[in-house]
Amino acid sequence: MVRSLDNPQVELLKPGVKAPVQETLLTPRFYTTDFDALAKMDISAYETELRAVIDELKADYNRHHFVRDEEFKQNWDHIQGEKRLAFIDFLERSCTSEFSGFLLFKELSRRLKEKQPLLSEAFDYLARDEARHAGFLNKSMADFNLSLDLSYLTKHRTYTFFPPSWIIYTVYLSEKIGYWRYILVYKHIAKNPEFQFYPLFRKFENWCQDENRHGDFFKALLRSQPQLWNNWRARLWIRFFLLTVFVTHTITVFERANFYEMIGIHPRKYNNQVIEETNKTSARAFPVILNTSHPYFFWYLEQCAITNQQLTALKDSNKSGITKFFQRIPLLMKVIWYMLKIYLIRPINAEAIRETVR
Ligand SMILES: [Fe+2]
Ligand SMILES: [Fe+2]
Repeated sequence: MVRSLDNPQVELLKPGVKAPVQETLLTPRFYTTDFDALAKMDISAYETELRAVIDELKADYNRHHFVRDEEFKQNWDHIQGEKRLAFIDFLERSCTSEFSGFLLFKELSRRLKEKQPLLSEAFDYLARDEARHAGFLNKSMADFNLSLDLSYLTKHRTYTFFPPSWIIYTVYLSEKIGYWRYILVYKHIAKNPEFQFYPLFRKFENWCQDENRHGDFFKALLRSQPQLWNNWRARLWIRFFLLTVFVTHTITVFERANFYEMIGIHPRKYNNQVIEETNKTSARAFPVILNTSHPYFFWYLEQCAITNQQLTALKDSNKSGITKFFQRIPLLMKVIWYMLKIYLIRPINAEAIRETVR
């Protein structure tokens, strides 16, 4: 591993190509699933709704959006130090998760071609969008004299197996949380243009509409399968996935608080707003959502983030392996304890409020 001359704290695979960050539970993951089970899914009762969403994807509203206009064509060497590193980290994380979506959707499109042509077509559009998003972010990294070797990532990442139902829950949520993340940054920068130190942020308005449409497709897919939402077991899983997505989001926002502060965003307010809005939006798809107005809801989430920071500090310390092992256990238990406390907060019945939600 070598170090970059332009970005001395960045590890490289080869000159100009950034080494991927170490995989942890929190880095964007690469997924695979049971393609045969998806091929056997009966979507006939919901075909009209699915077709309507797919027509929106087919329209390709953003085909001319991802163009690097004049403002990108300049030298970015004046962005240095902490700011440069935090921004590269943001670009890499975003690029990896967009690319992970591309790989999953491309494979789904390929494997469902024969037996589910309608879904295969949809996944092809989704892959098209994610490839654009990842490519655009990778070009932004190139402005900082770095890039991600996406074919290296494809081959060397570990793939996590999720059954189709988990894929549908988590991808739905990650598209909708992605929408809220992008739109809130966009709105903030539009109101406070002095924080736009790089032109990427103004691309987020149309960009997040792609994520919104992707989420709508997964919502239609989810609602086409009553066994995924209309029973107590599904409701327990949905609460679990809402919780894990919100905990992961809180941990990553608090870990990267300096990035948000750098663009004038208050990390706590941003995190809370993203979670509240995503939770509210997901009431259109899920039978239950979490009660984010519970007085302890966000406090418990923050305890998870604080404990995670203690875990990171322990990992980076020069204590012996055995000490680290034993000191890790109570901290992990603490995270699980607070997650359990959130999980047990009485959820909100979304079916009952369906007519009133946005
Ligand atoms: Fe995307
Ligand atoms: Fe997406």
